[in-house]
Amino acid sequence: MQLIDGKATAAKIKEEIAAEVKDIMAKGGKQPHLAAILVGHDGGSETYVKNKVLACEACGFKSSLIRFEENVSEEELLDTVKKLNDDADVDGFIVQLPLPKHIDEQKVIEAIDYRKDVDGFHPVNVGRMAIGLPCFISATPLGILTLLQRYNIETSGKKCVVLGRSNIVGKPMAQLMMQKQYGDSTVTVCHSHSKTLKEECREADIIIAAIGRPDFVTADMVKEGAVVIDVGTTRVPDATRKSGFRLNGDVKFDEVSPKCSFITPVPGGVGPMTICSLMKNTLAAGKKEYYK
Ligand code: GUN
Repeated sequence: MQLIDGKATAAKIKEEIAAEVKDIMAKGGKQPHLAAILVGHDGGSETYVKNKVLACEACGFKSSLIRFEENVSEEELLDTVKKLNDDADVDGFIVQLPLPKHIDEQKVIEAIDYRKDVDGFHPVNVGRMAIGLPCFISATPLGILTLLQRYNIETSGKKCVVLGRSNIVGKPMAQLMMQKQYGDSTVTVCHSHSKTLKEECREADIIIAAIGRPDFVTADMVKEGAVVIDVGTTRVPDATRKSGFRLNGDVKFDEVSPKCSFITPVPGGVGPMTICSLMKNTLAAGKKEYYK
């Protein structure tokens, strides 16, 4: 069994990005600039956004954080999105999700200029991704593809089971694993209502678990030699930690890992790659790689 070290891979990629930014700026180019909008004080969102700002520093990007209280109006948020769309210095920006219930999340996503949508959530980017055109690919699926590539894991022609069908992970992951230019795999998507989920998993060469249920994937569901990618990051109470919680993956690591050829740990697997993929997208936005 080989552990896939997302933390080390992400650190290396951030170094590569920083070197490229240095080069761009030495030639008189523009410093890439990522802005983030954070609404409210959700613990998970605060942590993600803090880590995004730190990653920008590591990559040599400029970053801006725009904060609103939980009671911000949809109108005010849409105004801010428009300002960022029009701000020539901002190459890309994200609105941290989830948003409070009184705000229409999809409306906010669609208000973002797709050329600055480094999260890859805008329907233009989702659609272009689905038909294999250059675009911003959402960060978690892109991070997983990068890990598979950097560990030279063969995916072409393999059976891949994606657990979960969210817009952020499951759906784009399945699309990408299916496409010839990325995974080139035979893909099955299973979810909470799939009757044959266990049987599908048992036949899979690659399992990508993004179902959001701690310890959901057990040893009896995994074929000997399978590759297991764990996207789960559920916070579970843990009195031994200073924070009072720990992150728990979707895979029962202790019993599943001995059967795997490769497996990602939680934490330190997919998580760090997500943020580093956002940095990749921001660099591409700065270079106007996909859109003029
Ligand atoms: N909330 C959970 N994951 C993400 C993400 O990748 N981007 C944004 N904007 N919000 C999130």
